[in-house]
Amino acid sequence: MLDKRLQAVADKVRPGKRLADIGTDHAYLPVNLVSRGITPFAIACDLREGPLQNACRTVAEAGLADRIQCRLGNGLSPLSAGEVEDIVIAGMGGETVASILSACLWAKNKHLHFVFQPMTRSEDLRRYLLTEGYVITAETTLQHSGHLYVIIEAEWTDAPPVIDEAAYVLGRLDGTRDREWLLWQKDLLTKRLKGMQTAGNTEEITRLTGILQGLEERL
Ligand SMILES: C[S@@+](CC[C@H](N)C(=O)[O-])C[C@H]1O[C@@H](n2cnc3c(N)ncnc32)[C@H](O)[C@@H]1O
Repeated sequence: MLDKRLQAVADKVRPGKRLADIGTDHAYLPVNLVSRGITPFAIACDLREGPLQNACRTVAEAGLADRIQCRLGNGLSPLSAGEVEDIVIAGMGGETVASILSACLWAKNKHLHFVFQPMTRSEDLRRYLLTEGYVITAETTLQHSGHLYVIIEAEWTDAPPVIDEAAYVLGRLDGTRDREWLLWQKDLLTKRLKGMQTAGNTEEITRLTGILQGLEERL
């Protein structure tokens, strides 16, 4: 049984597709999807030995070692091109996810479907995606245990770069459905703007004012 956040991430994985879960920790996500018959085969990857051992234990206890492989390594480096079709990267900072993508030459492939759940700095991830030929196909927000989370689905299509600071913060979020998230961002940005006004940073003041205008229009 997954918690509400991981269940929402799992719901975005396409049925019948081979999956990689990057930063898998206990491998709860791939074990859940494979044991329910949604995912035929998965690769659970983690940078660190401890979490990977946790993953191997969960996989063995579920009797799924023939359908879930555990691999140690940074980002997408434990994988080869073509091994999987869906890639989940959940529970890391948006800047870490962006650096994982930028380090992988084969990530820019029209057949891959990505599901990201950045814990922080989702704008850094959107900036990377929207300037590197990816399109954000969907976004969802949810509330769980007093926290707000965002899930971003993306695919690389060789799209022209989007140069728009507001788009990096707002993505495909909806003024009604994702209102709580947008109000939270508005609060954060307003505080940041006040700090920049005190510091007299005119470039940041212009940037943040533009984003806040875009945000107001969406609400
Ligand atoms: C907070 S846990 C998230 C676990 C799970 N994905 C989730 O969302 O509940 C983050 C995991 O990512 C791993 N991690 C951090 N940076 C990584 C990287 N560059 N490549 C692979 N795994 C990484 C950590 O070792 C840790 O196990």
